[in-house]
Amino acid sequence: MFFSWRYTKIIFVVALFFSRFSFAAVSADDGKAYALAKQNACLGCHAMNKKIVGPSFQSVAQKYKSDSNAQTFLKAKVVKGGAGSWGVVPMPANAKLSDAELSLLVSWILRGAPSEN
Ligand code: HEC
Repeated sequence: MFFSWRYTKIIFVVALFFSRFSFAAVSADDGKAYALAKQNACLGCHAMNKKIVGPSFQSVAQKYKSDSNAQTFLKAKVVKGGAGSWGVVPMPANAKLSDAELSLLVSWILRGAPSEN
């Protein structure tokens, strides 16, 4: 045998370590994005999985899932607000968000807005 059980175990432990590590990083971002959405009243009009005034974040993720320009387009849209993608009801502008906050929010929305809540 070329690979002993011992090596297999080491590889397994290393793989497990990295997968846990990356999970932790993703959920920390999810938590931050959720808090930001709450602070900025996004959640007054948007829910994860049902339409309120605006579309659910999961439908947004679905709509743009094969659109490679979605991140840029949606960052600009959230800042400026406006209507037309989902209907005639406009979203108000959210001009006070920083570029970093917008990136965090939009990439979270495009992942389907995962949250523990
Ligand atoms: C007053 C209600 C309201 C608030 C507050 C609001 N939205 Fe919206 N949002 C809407 C409506 C209505 C639409 C649909 C606009 C359209 O049809 O183009 C929308 C659309 C969106 C879209 C999809 C845009 C598109 O063109 O497909 C994203 C992403 C989004 N909102 C994110 C956010 C984020 C992030 C916040 C908080 C910073 C936020 N919204 C706050 C009402 C709101």
